[in-house]
Amino acid sequence: MDHDHLVTTKQLSRADVERVLDRAAEIDADPAAFAQRHDDAILGLLFFEPSTRTKMSFETAIKRLGGDAVDMGSVDSSSVKKGESLADTARVVEGYADALVLRHPSQGAARMASEFVDVPLLNAGDGAGHHPTQTLLDLYTVRESAGLDDLTVGIMGDLKYGRTVHSLAHALANFDADQHFVSPESLQLPRNVRYDLHESGASVREHTELDAVLPELDVLYVTRIQRERFPDENEYQQVAGEYGIDLDTLEAAKDDLTVMHPLPRVDEIAPEVDDTRYANYFEQAHNGVPVRMALLDLMLEGDR
Ligand code: NCD
Repeated sequence: MDHDHLVTTKQLSRADVERVLDRAAEIDADPAAFAQRHDDAILGLLFFEPSTRTKMSFETAIKRLGGDAVDMGSVDSSSVKKGESLADTARVVEGYADALVLRHPSQGAARMASEFVDVPLLNAGDGAGHHPTQTLLDLYTVRESAGLDDLTVGIMGDLKYGRTVHSLAHALANFDADQHFVSPESLQLPRNVRYDLHESGASVREHTELDAVLPELDVLYVTRIQRERFPDENEYQQVAGEYGIDLDTLEAAKDDLTVMHPLPRVDEIAPEVDDTRYANYFEQAHNGVPVRMALLDLMLEGDR
């Protein structure tokens, strides 16, 4: 990769994305060929917010490349509890690791921390900002199921606070996808994201009902309402439980619709959908390993 740090998908060209996805496909086809590739690499994991998939798949990825991970552990058991700043934590851990993965509740945290370190820093989610490595695995999943050309994509749920949505929307703009955003009015795309999408010439439409657009979609990307980001629990309660799908909803869908979700889900996708041909979200989560292996491989390549 040309970039030392990965903070947002806005910094990735179509060619950058394709390079990662192509490498992930090579890894998927022959994982053994990559098993010792970075056997002296250490990945530093700095997670200031809960994570299951992102953290575990990064850890699996570095181990499958022959390397290892060092983990700050929970905020409560780290020096953050003693008042250490993010900049200091990052500067210390860069001395232990060849690359850092950071998840933090503050938007902009990854950009800020990246200014203090020389090793590559990967943003694994900064508040309601961005989540670029999720987008890479999302695009890998879409490429495997529907291809990345001539796509009509619906993105539904919490478009305001959903960082996976912001990252995905910017990346899809590079692939000339038609993007339909479905949400309650209170959770529409933030103004800066909408502005950036328009600036990049993206095809964007916004809806409050899925019915209006479902029959056209190749991909439906469902997201969780980000309860932890709401300043007011009452506001959350007003939108909780809306914007879910079940088997009845999907009757209006194309036969080859792919349903995705970054997970965790709460109640946005009824479990009855899991066993249908539409469901692709567990596959999507599994793709986190080859895609993060590919990204780490490309980023660490220069170090070998
Ligand atoms: C997402 C996140 O953390 O933004 N989770 C993930 O990394 N797969 C989505 C979410 O929490 O809703």
